[in-house]
Amino acid sequence: MSSRKLNFGGVEVAVFFPEGLGRRIRTLGGILPNRAQRHPDHALPLQKRDLTPEAQALQDRVDRIEWYHTIDLGNGVVTPGWFDLRPHLSQYPLPARLDGLRVLDVATFDGFWAFEFARRGAAEVVALDIDSFAEVDMAPRLRRLKDPEYFSRQTGEGFRLCQQALGANVRREVLNVYDLSPERLGKFDLVFVSDLLLHLMNPMKALNNIASVTRGSAIIADVYDPHLPERERLMSYQGGVTHNIWWSISYGALEQMVHDAGFSRVELKNKFLTGYRGMKPILWHAAFQAWV
Ligand SMILES: C[S@@+](CC[C@H](N)C(=O)[O-])C[C@H]1O[C@@H](n2cnc3c(N)ncnc32)[C@H](O)[C@@H]1O
Repeated sequence: MSSRKLNFGGVEVAVFFPEGLGRRIRTLGGILPNRAQRHPDHALPLQKRDLTPEAQALQDRVDRIEWYHTIDLGNGVVTPGWFDLRPHLSQYPLPARLDGLRVLDVATFDGFWAFEFARRGAAEVVALDIDSFAEVDMAPRLRRLKDPEYFSRQTGEGFRLCQQALGANVRREVLNVYDLSPERLGKFDLVFVSDLLLHLMNPMKALNNIASVTRGSAIIADVYDPHLPERERLMSYQGGVTHNIWWSISYGALEQMVHDAGFSRVELKNKFLTGYRGMKPILWHAAFQAWV
């Protein structure tokens, strides 16, 4: 039992707390986003630039889409995504060159990573994503509360526009990670997955499938909760609370999950912070490289 003196309207009172209460409150703070952690209602606008008529025509098409990734399409046109990963590139353990390699980007969204792999010279890049938001793992109660329009939203519009604008040699495959297999897509020299596990009801199934298509190594980067004890393998269940987060994962649990996916060697490469574009970085990531 610990005690603290609190002042109620000038009257000082000693309050006794059971051991561990402070830690539990801090842990809850990590799970429930505070004001600074909540994302803005809209992605922040980017600074306006003077564009040529061709670039302006592309910008007009960009402006009709809601973006997750901030991607530079050249000639001053940049997609206004929630996340700008460009300043964080060096924190991910990517080889400088990928010449000759067959690379898979799991859960590609607008394709920031897939286009980066093509830029680094990969011989073949396959980018995988679900077909529509109807396939997002979501607790039935929350599903019933959602506007049906949300589920009819097809993925890939931003990806296709970027692919065309960049002239990138990247193949988009509509495939749920739960159905990923060597029979379906073959094996890859490098498999990359980032920011997916916390959104899945069954992250271990996804990791098993990722290991099954890896013939070289996999780079697995995901969000962990720094408020959960680092060495303990804890996962706090978040399903049914927000529409797309199922787990708040301790670092120790994330590391063990990668080990248990079926890789023979796993190395932690980096721990770092990212965040919504233009806001204080608040999302702790761990990036692993794992070999079969
Ligand atoms: C948070 S975004 C991460 C995007 C990208 N991987 C990154 O790190 O910037 C989650 C992505 O996972 C995709 N996704 C969600 N559930 C999936 C599933 N079961 N199989 C494949 N992709 C899924 C979403 O459509 C979206 O593209």
